Amino acid sequence: MSDIASLQTGARLRQGSNIGQPMTRRDGVLKVTGRATYAADNNPEGLLHAVVAAATIARGRVSRLDVAAAKAHPGVVAVITPENRPQLAADPDDKPNPLAFRLDLLQSDAVRYAGQPVAVVIATSLEAASEGAALLAPQYEVEAPRVDLGGESFEAKIVGPGFPGRAESGDFDAEYAACDQTLEATYETPAQYHNAMEPHAIVARWDGDRIEIDTPTQAPAIALGTVARFFGIAPENILIRSPFLGGGFGSKGMLAGPQVLGVMAAKMVGAPVKLVLSRPQMYGPVGHRAQTRQTLRLGMAADGRMTAIAHHTLAATSRFDDFVEPASNASHALYAAKAIRATHDATRIDVGTPRFMRAPGEAPGSAALECAIDEAAFAAGIDPLDFRLRNYAEVEPMHGKPFSSKALRECYLQGAERFGWAGRPLEPQKLRDEKGRLVGRGVGTAQFPAIMFEGKARAVIRADGGGLAETSAEDMGQGAWTALHQIAADSLGLAIDAVEFRAGSSDLPDAGIAGGSGHTATAGTALYRAGEDAIARLTALAVGDRRSPLFGAGNVGVVARDGRLSRQDDESRGESYAAILARAGLSEIEGSGRGVADPATEEAYAKYAHGAVFAEVAVDPDLCQIRVTRLTGAFAAGRIINPRLVESQYYGGMVWGLSFALHEEAVHDRRSGRIMNANLAEYHVPVNADVPSLEAILVEEDDPHVNPLGVKGVGEIGITGTVGAIANAVFHATGIRVRRFPILPADLL
Ligand code: MOS
Repeated sequence: MSDIASLQTGARLRQGSNIGQPMTRRDGVLKVTGRATYAADNNPEGLLHAVVAAATIARGRVSRLDVAAAKAHPGVVAVITPENRPQLAADPDDKPNPLAFRLDLLQSDAVRYAGQPVAVVIATSLEAASEGAALLAPQYEVEAPRVDLGGESFEAKIVGPGFPGRAESGDFDAEYAACDQTLEATYETPAQYHNAMEPHAIVARWDGDRIEIDTPTQAPAIALGTVARFFGIAPENILIRSPFLGGGFGSKGMLAGPQVLGVMAAKMVGAPVKLVLSRPQMYGPVGHRAQTRQTLRLGMAADGRMTAIAHHTLAATSRFDDFVEPASNASHALYAAKAIRATHDATRIDVGTPRFMRAPGEAPGSAALECAIDEAAFAAGIDPLDFRLRNYAEVEPMHGKPFSSKALRECYLQGAERFGWAGRPLEPQKLRDEKGRLVGRGVGTAQFPAIMFEGKARAVIRADGGGLAETSAEDMGQGAWTALHQIAADSLGLAIDAVEFRAGSSDLPDAGIAGGSGHTATAGTALYRAGEDAIARLTALAVGDRRSPLFGAGNVGVVARDGRLSRQDDESRGESYAAILARAGLSEIEGSGRGVADPATEEAYAKYAHGAVFAEVAVDPDLCQIRVTRLTGAFAAGRIINPRLVESQYYGGMVWGLSFALHEEAVHDRRSGRIMNANLAEYHVPVNADVPSLEAILVEEDDPHVNPLGVKGVGEIGITGTVGAIANAVFHATGIRVRRFPILPADLL
């Protein structure tokens, strides 16, 4: 049902038969039967293959490439190096806006990080291109790299696009000096790589000045802008198809250098070209999460109430670009304190530029904050859940704004109940399981901002009474399209099967970026508005037509449901969409919509999703092996469009958190600057055996302010809270406080 009154009064969504249903992924069968066409599955006629040759040093310059040897290979068609690289319309070292990352497009012989592309070889087969790349046998002038946080640092004024590097309320120094008890602790988090299952891939084909591209991207319009900028062509001459992504996690937010090199290669050889990164090549030019060192200083009154919170982050960024992991932002709005200070410094090291990755900022920031909170609670002799409740922020603490909604207390209570938190001994090393393992229980608070980008959508009601909804929206695998389709169907007052849903291509209305856990709110609002608009236009046709049973009903008194418009006061009086269009002689009627945050609401409220994560671990006292035995997360994120998909998002998020706590770490060789575990065998991520029974509780939350749908994001919040919960459980089991991640058996010896 689409309530027409809502359009006129600005009232909130009233849902029909689709929103709230636990539908399965609409593209699920295609995916599990191998019929979903990912970028690298495209094989146009005359396709050539491009392979990147990647630097094996982290700093210096390429002194020699054996281009002649590569070209002598019978399958090799062309070799692109800085010497013969085609001129681009823009300098890859320019940064026209904060979202435009500086790219490595063979603009010079300089090497700025290990894994940087130094040449591209194009050949008739993948094998020939790979052999050609090997024949280049690069030689280098090597400079000593630095890949740790030990060097000079500088204050980061901006940490990534749109985030101020420093935020402060109250007088931290005064409050910290005056409080009864303080806690200061420093935590380290490692470099982590996105490791989406699908590596970055591109198939590009030029036709004169036009280009068609198949490549995974979280934001088709941003990708299109990048291609237009570098190749100097009009946006309308570019088509980017990105129907399926095998994960993205931020690394596919904006095009990475190798994707642009694929477009360049196709142009150079005048044939369609496919370029697919290998797994090891994913560790460098497509982003990662930066290493951080974070210091928390907490000041408390004697009763355990915090008066001062300072969160400082030192984050690594590349030598040539600025992206500073905004970790300290995690402390902006979680706990109440008279004084809060969140600051960031950065240091330049010889790695590829870090980018957004899975709860950027909040993931490592929450890891440090939630451990510090646990340490403070322990120092104060207070149960860590009680300590959190005692420091509950009833309003957003920095500015005193009300939260648009905040069911965190319910998350704590429901999570604690389900997990069985009560009776947990305060002291560590008190619990053992039947195998004699040390058992510990920990808790962490989850929080993630509920943001919106800007998105557009189009909705159509067709002559047969069915619908069509279009937006460029991306689905990274989590089921976003299904949720958006549900919203579109409700807004059109139709069953989901009666609505065709088109998405994932740059020629559709720009849905913004599938990122920041803001996509459903953004694209969903656009789709909802578009459907409302189409229904309003249809209604106008009916109520103004003497031949309609709705004549004179007025917009306010009409409901749209199951393909019919009817009077609100008497639903037996109405007619089908098809009948209205037929009488008007129309083949279809169209509406459009926009999803963007309302500036007034944005100003008035603090908007966050919240949660509480409870972890139990068992630690072998001899081998120090750590097993997570239980994870229970209770999350409140406004209206739930599809509980099945949301539950699986929370599971995924908690597994990420487990991964952060105990597994993931890119290990650099300090002498060469290379990553020593640039593969999925040695870069550990959890396997099924590492993941315990997971529980996700969907805590009810009604948010009248956040957006017309009442939707907050669910994609990233699960990782926050979880890392701290597990680390705190390890402390509770062993009495050993590990302040670096991942926590390894060796740390417990
Ligand atoms: Mo996500 S790191 O916002 O793609």
